[in-house]
Amino acid sequence: MAGYVVVGAQWGDEGKGKVVDLLGTRVNMVVRFQGGNNAGHTVVVNGKKTVLHLLPSGILNHDALCVIAAGVVINPFVLFKEIDQLEAEGQKCDNIRISDRAQLLMPYHVRLDELEEKRAGDKKIGTTKNGIGPCYADKYSRVGLRVCDLADWDVFCDKLKTVLELKNEEITKIYGGEPFDYDEMVEQFRQIRERMLPMIADAVDLVNKALEENKIILFEGAQANMLDINYGTYPYVTSSSPTAAGVCEGAAVSPSKLDRIIGVVKAYSTRVGEGPFVTEQLNATGDKLRETGFEYGATTGRPRRVGWLDLPVVKQAVRINGLTDIAITKLDVLTGYEKLPVCVGYTIDGKEYDTVPASLKQYGKAEPIYKYFDGWTEDITKCRNFDELPVNAQKYVRFIEEYTGTPACLVSVNPEREGNCILRPLL
Ligand code: GDP
Ligand code: IMO
Ligand code: MG
Repeated sequence: MAGYVVVGAQWGDEGKGKVVDLLGTRVNMVVRFQGGNNAGHTVVVNGKKTVLHLLPSGILNHDALCVIAAGVVINPFVLFKEIDQLEAEGQKCDNIRISDRAQLLMPYHVRLDELEEKRAGDKKIGTTKNGIGPCYADKYSRVGLRVCDLADWDVFCDKLKTVLELKNEEITKIYGGEPFDYDEMVEQFRQIRERMLPMIADAVDLVNKALEENKIILFEGAQANMLDINYGTYPYVTSSSPTAAGVCEGAAVSPSKLDRIIGVVKAYSTRVGEGPFVTEQLNATGDKLRETGFEYGATTGRPRRVGWLDLPVVKQAVRINGLTDIAITKLDVLTGYEKLPVCVGYTIDGKEYDTVPASLKQYGKAEPIYKYFDGWTEDITKCRNFDELPVNAQKYVRFIEEYTGTPACLVSVNPEREGNCILRPLL
């Protein structure tokens, strides 16, 4: 058995796509287990950039089977657009399997997300407006449509009729929005169905059989720990569990099958959307970090909020996920600072904490306690061994390991697949 997990240890956009792509060259299967096309995972190979939203980031390695498991919410229009784009660029996409148990993210989910955010005004969550929250809400309200419903057309049409009546009432009566036409939607899905049927699989069997056959499977997390529905900065979170536990639930895998759990940690912090962010730099330093790190959303294009590394946040991810490794990314972006502050705790109402409080009122009052590291000026983007990094960069990495009690498996120094110093063999 060989189950590998890659998850985000902060607020997303840590570079999970890059790490998954790197490992993806050596695994038999890559599985997305939660989230939907709110994800934007960037992969850069030989200067060519690809951004993946629904497809696993293993797709560029044609030898790996790419599975979208039951825990994912699938907008089929986005899925096929993504496949069409990749195929137009010459990428083969015949290695994709879709769980029959996954939820379909419907056009009314997208509209409801937009309407809910608009109505919330300055209390909005700052979602990606891709319908993620409304789709998961329907799943748990047990009115969702699943991929397997598409296989039985009568069942699909029957369910859609009932649920669309309900959704149109919500859209028109609560939000004053435009309703959807049932016949039009049926027609759209008739075409979707034709294309999707050959890709549908019993992913419970597929994934577990592969594990029984000692195949190597990589589970690709989207979003991150601080956006987790239970443990993130609720309500400023996404609607799934982007954790190692989410793998078990979303991909039907026992915790005993997960051998290595890699948390991706950006060398500083970013966040998209609303919610508390203790180390945020709303100043020229923040602007510089954003520009050097090219911190603009891979899904929405929004400028990302940026700040210094927040280690209580990373420590929280280490505990919740049981991280065996951390992959530290974007260290190159920190080149050229005289001092690098790292948050090692918070002061809230005069008391010190090294954990993340549940109450946003409390967390909103948190002041960072910084430890200051000496910076470096050398270009590190070409370093391929840890020893080649400037001593101060090495110290920065070693402190993250020490604070989190977790060894770094790699330090990434540029966006390319090969732009890493490997500290611990990955596979
Ligand atoms: P994900 O959502 O976790 O997969 O991350 P994103 O793809 O949204 O954002 C990470 C961004 O950082 C992408 O533009 C990557 O190409 C880029 N990136 C990844 N690793 C590095 C690195 O080590 N250095 C630099 N400069 N960029 C990186
Ligand atoms: P990857 O996988 C960063 C954020 C949104 C918003 C909140 C809820 O690329 O790391 P949602 O649309 O999920 O209901 O939005 O979560 N968010 C992300 N932020 N990276 C992501 O994905 C994100 N997916 C959702 O900005 O604050
Ligand atoms: Mg991203």
